[in-house]
Amino acid sequence: MGTKENLLALFEENKGVYFSGEDIARKLSVSRTAVWKAVKSLRGEGYDIDAVQNKGYSLSVKTDVLSVQGIKKYLKPICSGIDMTVLQTVDSTNAAVREKAAEGAGEGCTVIANNQTNGKGRIGRSFFSPPETGIYMSLLLRPAHYSSKQAVKLTTMAAVAGCEAIETVSGEKAQIKWVNDIYIDGKKVSGILTEASLGLENGFLDYAVLGIGINVYPPKGGFPGELENIAGAVFSMPHDDGKNRLAAEFLNRFMTYYAKPENSGYADKYRSRSLVIGKEVQVIFPGHFQKAVALDIDEACRLIVKYEDGKTESLSSGEISVRLS
Ligand code: BTN
Repeated sequence: MGTKENLLALFEENKGVYFSGEDIARKLSVSRTAVWKAVKSLRGEGYDIDAVQNKGYSLSVKTDVLSVQGIKKYLKPICSGIDMTVLQTVDSTNAAVREKAAEGAGEGCTVIANNQTNGKGRIGRSFFSPPETGIYMSLLLRPAHYSSKQAVKLTTMAAVAGCEAIETVSGEKAQIKWVNDIYIDGKKVSGILTEASLGLENGFLDYAVLGIGINVYPPKGGFPGELENIAGAVFSMPHDDGKNRLAAEFLNRFMTYYAKPENSGYADKYRSRSLVIGKEVQVIFPGHFQKAVALDIDEACRLIVKYEDGKTESLSSGEISVRLS
């Protein structure tokens, strides 16, 4: 790590604490000029660094910029295998991690971006990913002996982890619209896209890329017209370290479920957060949809629906629409 990265780690670990230039130079074993340059560079990246005569420099507690250093300070040992990169902008973090997977990257390779120019949603949709207000994160997983059906587990574990992270940091009740959307107060604040590569010989997962997008704050120019009534954000006002904490809380929780899914009770937690049980839904098929009632969610997080003709079906993937008001 260079001086700038080391200085950021020091600041992030000690937000609001003043360090003299001399003190920093000694701690990082660099010159005071190098410290000054690093401060200037961090300010250019949006960090609010206060400078007071006879006190020194301090990173404002209000600063909420995603960074490896800012996230790592909240990570638990279960995340020690995570190799994280934070980018200002990228086309899609899922695409970036897929590329790394194809080059042989190991489990835990994680790309997080402040902005996506081509964020991908499910079933070929795009995911609105404006700068500075959201978290766009993808994680490479190489679980042993996972069939394609089991890959659904990754999405459902991530949905539970996402809800718990949001609730811990914001205090807002987060619920799941089957299969992968997280809602607060009837508005979608987060979506999950899991993309998998299957081994042709054994039918097991070669790897999976788990992508999650969280609208942490309302976008600066508002949501585009088509999302206005559907999308929301976790916070309406700036929140201390909201983005770094949320990203870390998600990783802590997801990695805990992923390490021991069978003992974690995540399926019960998933079910208890469901927005759709007991509601009328429309099951969307290519080219048409069918009305049904969502009866329940089973132990494999399949949605059990009953169609108007009385037939029931357990859906393990797919898309439904539901009126939330
Ligand atoms: C959906 O709501 O349809 C799923 C949205 C998934 C968005 C995330 S943002 C990080 C990752 N990179 C992408 O391009 N998509 C996922």
